[in-house]
Amino acid sequence: MNRYLAVLGRQPEISVAELEAVFGDVSQIASGKLAVFSAESVDICRFGGTLKFAEKITLSPIEFLRGLPEGKITIGVSDYSKKASRKTATMEALKLKKILVRHGRSVRVVENKDAALSTATSLHNGLSGKNERKVELIKVDDDWYLVVGVQDIDAYARRDQARPARDAYVGMLPPKLAQVLINLCGVLPKGATMLDPFCGTGVVLQEALLMGYRAYGTDISEKMIEYSRKNLEYFDFENFKLEVGDATRHKWGEKVDAVACEGYLGKPMSQIPGEMKLKEQKQECGSIVLGFLKNLTRQIELDTPVVIAIPAWLRENNKYERLDILDEIEAMGYNVHSKSREGLLYHRPEQIVARDIIILRKK
Ligand SMILES: C[S@@+](CC[C@H](N)C(=O)[O-])C[C@H]1O[C@@H](n2cnc3c(N)ncnc32)[C@H](O)[C@@H]1O
Repeated sequence: MNRYLAVLGRQPEISVAELEAVFGDVSQIASGKLAVFSAESVDICRFGGTLKFAEKITLSPIEFLRGLPEGKITIGVSDYSKKASRKTATMEALKLKKILVRHGRSVRVVENKDAALSTATSLHNGLSGKNERKVELIKVDDDWYLVVGVQDIDAYARRDQARPARDAYVGMLPPKLAQVLINLCGVLPKGATMLDPFCGTGVVLQEALLMGYRAYGTDISEKMIEYSRKNLEYFDFENFKLEVGDATRHKWGEKVDAVACEGYLGKPMSQIPGEMKLKEQKQECGSIVLGFLKNLTRQIELDTPVVIAIPAWLRENNKYERLDILDEIEAMGYNVHSKSREGLLYHRPEQIVARDIIILRKK
């Protein structure tokens, strides 16, 4: 087992939940921006919620850097220590450069705009762990880590934008969040069947296929099933099945190992809804999700993970109002993960409809 450090995404609680579901024990450090955990290995491409993975170095940073192969080296430093600033990070980097130059090495330092290098800066300067002579070190007080993977934001953008069938009204799930939903199901064997019963344009299906699973998508709308088909065929995937079906009554025709989906989120909104509108939306979305879970519970095996993003609405007090359905879900025969928690709410600042991620297991 190795000890890893994760630089957590914009919503650390969601990033931690994703890592915990896959690796078990995860501890947050450095004012919640980082987490440490043990694992055999890590693959940054599979984790939508993590910006960087790093491994602890046992040598001092200078000994480590002196051991790098011959030739010009590029170094970047991200400082997450208690009193870190752009200045402390820059000073550390320049101090390392000075010693290395004294030892006859040619060194370029990546400029810090902040205490920590952004994902884009690390990626675009080649500090993603793939080139032995281009390295990013992370300092956390007296500990140093070597970055071994950086989230490929360009690959996500390509996956998102290349898809031929898009629908602004349905609103497409960011591929990163699709990965989070899939990972929250835990570790499944390669080839396991991942069902998305509200598959829309097929983002969850696409990410499940990229992660080595079989994808099974259903949606009430024939148009959406055609969109999913077009998108999955565009990427040349083969191991998937699609069919039209109302999730509240559909009979899924093959064994389902896990369910990851973004359910019906109600009407898109550009301003905070009034009480009447909110009540109507809660009623409509709540009845679809409950109808779906009731239908599903009869068709899946014990312990099957079910992860679903449901809507929560921004209120005037700047808090999100969630669907109050967890007790009912529990009574239907599901274990609700961390029921007492505030919830895992995914949203951009001031977004009206947030996605409230619910993690269940059939009991
Ligand atoms: C928020 S969208 C999901 C978008 C999808 N994640 C994507 O990436 O495109 C919700 C989807 O649920 C579908 N839907 C609504 N009610 C449904 C029901 N009762 N059964 C199945 N699908 C339903 C809609 O057609 C829509 O495609």
